Amino acid sequence: MIINNDVAKKLKKDFPIFKNNPKLIYLDNGATTQKPNRVINTIKEFYEKYNANVARGFYKQSQIAMEQYQNARRIVAKFINAEAEEIIFTHNATDSINSVAYAIESIIPEGRDEIVLTEMEHHSNLIPWQQLAFRSGFKLKFIKIKDDFTLDLQDAQEKITKKTAIVSLTHVSNSLGTINPVEEIVKIAKSLGVLTLIDATQSVPHMKVDVGKIGSDFLVFSGHKMLGPTGVGVLYGKRELLEKMQPFNFGGGMIKSVSKESSEFADLPEKFEAGTPNIAGAVALAEAITYIDKIGVDNIHRWESELMKYLIESLKKVGDIVLYNVGLKNTSGILSFNIKGIHAHDVASILDSYDVAVRAGHHCCMPLMKRLGIPGTVRASFYFYNTYEDIDKFVEAVKKTKEKFGR
Ligand SMILES: Cc1ncc(COP(=O)(O)O)c(C=O)c1O
Repeated sequence: MIINNDVAKKLKKDFPIFKNNPKLIYLDNGATTQKPNRVINTIKEFYEKYNANVARGFYKQSQIAMEQYQNARRIVAKFINAEAEEIIFTHNATDSINSVAYAIESIIPEGRDEIVLTEMEHHSNLIPWQQLAFRSGFKLKFIKIKDDFTLDLQDAQEKITKKTAIVSLTHVSNSLGTINPVEEIVKIAKSLGVLTLIDATQSVPHMKVDVGKIGSDFLVFSGHKMLGPTGVGVLYGKRELLEKMQPFNFGGGMIKSVSKESSEFADLPEKFEAGTPNIAGAVALAEAITYIDKIGVDNIHRWESELMKYLIESLKKVGDIVLYNVGLKNTSGILSFNIKGIHAHDVASILDSYDVAVRAGHHCCMPLMKRLGIPGTVRASFYFYNTYEDIDKFVEAVKKTKEKFGR
C-alpha cells in the first residue's frame, strides 16, 4: 500500500484525536506524534488484562507481563536490526543520552578527553555532554554547519582525532530537517577508535534506520515521537560495550546478588534497567512499531518527501518567506521558516487561531539559532497522516498571518 493522499486520509482515521478535533491541522509531529487507536487500546488492554510487575513474579500473571515486555524488546530490536539484549528501555531519548554520558566514563581510554558534537544538536544531545565535560575536564568541539545547512565534513575530519573520546550527533536535525551522513562520520570516528552515539530521535520514526549499517556504538530515540506513549525511550548499545560499561542507575531489578557491602549486577539488558520499568509503555511502543512496520518506513519517508515538495512550492508562492532548508534530496519531513519581519512566536500564535499547530522558537537548539543569527523559526513537521489539504490550510493561514501584519 503506497501512501498517497487518499491513503493518508484513511490512515488519519486511525487516530481518534482527529475525530475529536476535526479542525485540527497538526504539524508538530517533531515534538510528538498523535496516537492511533491500536496503541491507546494496547495500554488499556495491558492494564485491564495483563498488569503485574515484571521479573519478580513466580505467578502466571507476572510471567505474562514479563513475556509481553520482553516481546516488546524483541520487536524494537528487530526494527533497527539490533539484538534484544542490546535494547535498554529508558524514559525518553534525553534519558538515554544522559545515561551514556554517565556510563561511558568507565570505558573511555586514557588520553582521550575531547567530545565532538555538531552545531545543530538538540539541547538533549548537548547538555549531558557539557556536564560530562565539567565533571571530567573534557573539552567540547563542534562540527560546523555550512551555509546550505549541511554538516561541514572537512571540519568533521579535522575535529575528530585520536584525542576524541566520543562523537555524538543527530541523524536528522529537529530544526532544519537536514539528514546527516551519519555512516560517513561513524566511519571517520571508527578509523580513529572513537566511540559514537547517534541521536536518531527524528529519524527512526520516519526512515529506515539500521544500526548494523550505521555502525555506531550507541543510538537513541523516543517512543512518543513514533506513535508510542510518552515515558518510554530506547537506548541501543553494542553488546560488548554495554557488557563492559558500569551501570548508571542502581537499585532493584538490576542485580544478581546483594550483600550489605556490595552487589553483583545482572546481565544485559536488566543491568541497565534499575527499578520498575514502564511496562505498558514498552508494550504500547512495540504495538506502534508493528503498525509503522506494516505501513513501511520507506513508504513514510517517500510520502513525507512528496508533502515537503508541495509545501515548499506552496510557501514560495506566498512571498516574504525565508526557508532554512537543505534542499529536497537531503531533507526529512521538517521545515523551518520565517515570515520576513514577523517574530516566529507571533506567526505560530496566529496560525493557532486558524487551528494550525506548529512549533516556534529555538526548538531546543539555541546554539544553532545563534549560528543562524536568528532568535527562532516556525517549524512545520509531518507524519504519514498529513495530507495535501493540511498543507493547503496551513499555507492559507500563513498568507492570512502575513496580511494581518500588513505585508
Ligand atoms: C533530535 C532530538 N533529540 C532529542 C530530543 C529529545 O527527545 P525527548 O524529549 O523525547 O527526550 C528531541 C526532541 O525533540 C529531538 O528532536
